[in-house]
Amino acid sequence: MILHKLPTIQYPDLVIWQWVAWIGLTAQLLALGGCKERGAPPRPPGVSAAAPQEQPPPLGYDPRKMLDEKTRASAIRPQRALSLLGLSPGMVVADIGAGPGYFTFRMARAVGPGGRVYALEIRDSVLKLLRRRSADRKLNPHQNVVPVNNREDDTNLRPDLLDLALLCEVHICLRKKPSEDEAKMMASIYRTIKPGGALAVLELKKNDQYPTYAPRNIVANFKRVGFTLERAEEDYSPVAVFYLFRKPRTGAAVTSP
Ligand SMILES: C[S@@+](CC[C@H](N)C(=O)[O-])C[C@H]1O[C@@H](n2cnc3c(N)ncnc32)[C@H](O)[C@@H]1O
Repeated sequence: MILHKLPTIQYPDLVIWQWVAWIGLTAQLLALGGCKERGAPPRPPGVSAAAPQEQPPPLGYDPRKMLDEKTRASAIRPQRALSLLGLSPGMVVADIGAGPGYFTFRMARAVGPGGRVYALEIRDSVLKLLRRRSADRKLNPHQNVVPVNNREDDTNLRPDLLDLALLCEVHICLRKKPSEDEAKMMASIYRTIKPGGALAVLELKKNDQYPTYAPRNIVANFKRVGFTLERAEEDYSPVAVFYLFRKPRTGAAVTSP
């Protein structure tokens, strides 16, 4: 650089400018390095980073099967479910184990532009499909769905965040003796719901893949973590049961089932 060749003693001002230039250059390089960190997509409010975990095995079926309106309407009765959830504009809710979003986008319309739906999903491939669907403005006109890649044993949402959570065919609550991950997940769901908030569970009466799963265990499992049962529809549809639980307003201690 020409500045180096100049006799600096005769030009003290130039020495100062030389330093200013170096400091400026160093600051820019540091800022560029930092951009890598800052380039990561910002974490939405209420969501904590999920510690890395192994991907569970693939679903064993095309997740888009969960969107089949014909087969699901009679079993799941989406309109009936939505009316039992009692959603209203502005609510902050979660569809836990959202799959490709059969309920997510219905819930998103019900809570409106001032509300939010956290759509939790553990499987990367399903989450990818969910994200793609969330970006579609026809399906998600208010852009109020927040896809979350949670851990199998944790909602990765902050405590007391949700007015309501829905679990539809997620099967984590159906064993008499839940696995360690299932037990932790149920306790995490309890923590994430606000005092006075609700949890709705829509499950199949019988699961051909796992014959030992039984809906009667749902009530025992969620009561054990602190919820009270508010509504039970054991004949919700020919193949499904529906339960609505409430988190007491004064915090009950969370225990593992
Ligand atoms: C049978 S699908 C149901 C999807 C959706 N709830 C519906 O009814 O269309 C179950 C989904 O729950 C997800 N899942 C299972 N355990 C989960 C957990 N602990 N947290 C979040 N998602 C979970 C699975 O990856 C799967 O996509």
